[in-house]
Amino acid sequence: MSFSIGKEMNMGYDQSNHKMNEDFGIYEKTAKQYDQLRFTGQAGIWSHRRQMEVLRRLLPDLQGKKVLEIGAGTGRATFYLAQAGAQVLATDISSEMLDVAKKRFSETPFEQKIAFRQLSIFDLNIDLTGYDYVVALNVLSRLSNPEAALVHIAKKMSPECRFLFSFNCLSSVLLPSALIVNIRRKSLFRSVTSRWYTPARIERFCKMAGLEVLAWQGNHYVPNPRILFFTLPLFQVLERVISKKFPKWCPSVCAVTRKVHHCNDNGNLGYGPR
Ligand SMILES: C[S@@+](CC[C@H](N)C(=O)[O-])C[C@H]1O[C@@H](n2cnc3c(N)ncnc32)[C@H](O)[C@@H]1O
Repeated sequence: MSFSIGKEMNMGYDQSNHKMNEDFGIYEKTAKQYDQLRFTGQAGIWSHRRQMEVLRRLLPDLQGKKVLEIGAGTGRATFYLAQAGAQVLATDISSEMLDVAKKRFSETPFEQKIAFRQLSIFDLNIDLTGYDYVVALNVLSRLSNPEAALVHIAKKMSPECRFLFSFNCLSSVLLPSALIVNIRRKSLFRSVTSRWYTPARIERFCKMAGLEVLAWQGNHYVPNPRILFFTLPLFQVLERVISKKFPKWCPSVCAVTRKVHHCNDNGNLGYGPR
């Protein structure tokens, strides 16, 4: 695969995701600081490693596999996927984020294993036949309409394809700040686009989309590691005590899903009102 950035976004599609600009505007503006703010220093590096560990557990055999990554951002997970042997098509709505990702890969041995395309999750015009995995790490909770995104992806998946995504989980030690974010759309430190969901709600979204959850994995991280670095020991203990036995009680939860049936264009499977 070669590098390519396609300007494929149709900015006029915006019916299901009316707050699209809000969804990714922050990333456009802060792409260059994204990794620096979240994944540097002892606490940030630990948080990054924990997430990659979750990926490794859920996708143990990536050698030769074909992966579509959605919301690849600065290529943090993309790098892990390529290093583990996968061919990755890395997509993101933000060209600024993808520019940072491209730099990460230039002149690495993995350069040839990655292709880039600027695409919204709602506009994926990619034929997923032959794809083993779709990965969306830290993306769905940032969308104003995650259920529509799940429906859209599920419709394109083959029964063999697995869709791994993470979401911000409400039922965790971060519950108080998660509630503040859900109510105010702001964290203590900055404006955020994210929302926090209960696992039950995510399961309902999956059911609507015709997806079955095959496995859950949770992990802890230090929110705002530059300011809250001193909380690292607490999160390390929580990680050890909670994450294995109670994955759905972690602030970040990953689900691996597969498609079990088709849904119609409205994502309506007749499960009744949500
Ligand atoms: C929190 S970042 C996660 C980046 C990367 N996956 C990671 O874990 O480091 C969220 C990413 O989702 C992207 N994004 C937001 N809305 C999107 C959409 N509608 N379609 C595709 N990507 C989107 C943003 O541009 C941003 O790069």
